[in-house]
Amino acid sequence: MTEIIANTKKLFIKTYGCQMNVYDSDRMADALAPHGYEPTGDIMAADLVLLNTCHIREKASEKVFSELGRMKELQDLRRAAGADLMIGVAGCVAQAEGEEIARRAPVVDMVFGPQSYHRLPEMLSEAASRRSLHPSQQRAVVDTDYPEEDKFEHLPAASKEVTIKRGLTAFLTVQEGCDKFCAFCVVPYTRGSEVSRPVSQVLTEARNLVAAGVKEITLLGQNVNAYHGLDAAGRTVGLGELAYLLADIAGLERVRYTTSHPRDMDDALIAAHRDLDILMPYLHLPVQSGSDTMLKAMNRRHTAAEYLRTIERIKTARPDMALSGDFIVGFPGETEQDFEDTLSIIRDVGYASAYSFKYSTRPGTPGANLGGQIAEEIKTERLHRLQDLVNAQTTAFHAACVGKTMPVLIERPGRMPGQVGGRSPYLQAVHLDGSPDLIGAIHQVEIVGTSTNSLVGRLKVAQAA
Ligand code: 5AD
Ligand code: SF4
Repeated sequence: MTEIIANTKKLFIKTYGCQMNVYDSDRMADALAPHGYEPTGDIMAADLVLLNTCHIREKASEKVFSELGRMKELQDLRRAAGADLMIGVAGCVAQAEGEEIARRAPVVDMVFGPQSYHRLPEMLSEAASRRSLHPSQQRAVVDTDYPEEDKFEHLPAASKEVTIKRGLTAFLTVQEGCDKFCAFCVVPYTRGSEVSRPVSQVLTEARNLVAAGVKEITLLGQNVNAYHGLDAAGRTVGLGELAYLLADIAGLERVRYTTSHPRDMDDALIAAHRDLDILMPYLHLPVQSGSDTMLKAMNRRHTAAEYLRTIERIKTARPDMALSGDFIVGFPGETEQDFEDTLSIIRDVGYASAYSFKYSTRPGTPGANLGGQIAEEIKTERLHRLQDLVNAQTTAFHAACVGKTMPVLIERPGRMPGQVGGRSPYLQAVHLDGSPDLIGAIHQVEIVGTSTNSLVGRLKVAQAA
């Protein structure tokens, strides 16, 4: 039995990378709360620092090692002040380079991958007891196994009791890992193969979040629309069906999900977009490239035309749907024509926003062994051209919102006194004049203008008392 520790220690988690890491960091905080650890935003006051790392692109591990250099200085400061600091490295760099981190950075107490977070309290007490060993025998606790047990069953689900108040929006991981093996991507190696959480677990966590005041949930998964959780009857439920079940939760007003693979946009999910207002009309659907040659080399397993057809089906079901995407420039063998094809698909789709990256070789992935690696200057030049195009599309999308009335989830006081701020269905920041009483609900807002990266609105319909 783990003893409940009364005195409060401070926990600082530094999160890199994707939203799933943000979710995982919250879960780790929840797992440590019963053991006396309280989150702090002040790293200087921390008794335990966890770095939740990302391995998706280059230099990630080098960044971790330089961060660990700073942690050593912080630890020295804490010790000089009569306190101490324990340090853990979590996330995908930890998973990929566990032993190497322990060897190269003796300052680290624990190194553990994303599948081990439920064992964090045990690791922490093991690491604390190793502290009393002779320095020559002190070694970090390393846990990068893929355990048989389901970590989600062992992690405290976001419950009313342990959930540190998260505000009006929350992430909820429903699926983890990936079986797609795109040639550029480390995820199938760092997060393992696809696992979906059972339906009841997802619904319980969603209800708990709503009971804690959450209005909008973003379902997370590396391949979220490949979700295939079991229900109580042992039947497999897809993401579309899950959306209908979530729509029945009273008080839950908005559902988003990310990241999707084009091949998994099945009819049931598209029908859910047609039927459910709770599903926001904003979809992140990465295509990576518009060239069939590149798509094949990347092992995406669909063509550009198939992607465009999928978008057509989605827009037929939900005409107000807007899209965002991910793009990689300079994948091995990419010619000027291949790149032009990418610009062309971007023009065809018209994105509300997009993330774009220079291809970065990841050791151990098939892409790393391909000939025809592209020079850095060419990647840079193509990235700029691509970003100019998507930035123009984003600006056009914001401008096209002016004059429309849309539901805005008012989340916080605005930048100026007398203002409040929130999010549109398309995740745009919206600022408007209004009293703080508006915070916490969805209000109809007329968009009257745009400013850098945000919209300016005017309250249209006062909320009925
Ligand atoms: N190089 C560049 N970008 C990558 N991504 C994934 N792996 C790589 C890589 N090796 C991008 C993809 C993916 C997003 C999360 O990161 O666009 O959709
Ligand atoms: Fe990586 Fe492709 Fe899986 Fe996405 S679908 S996580 S890009 S392997």
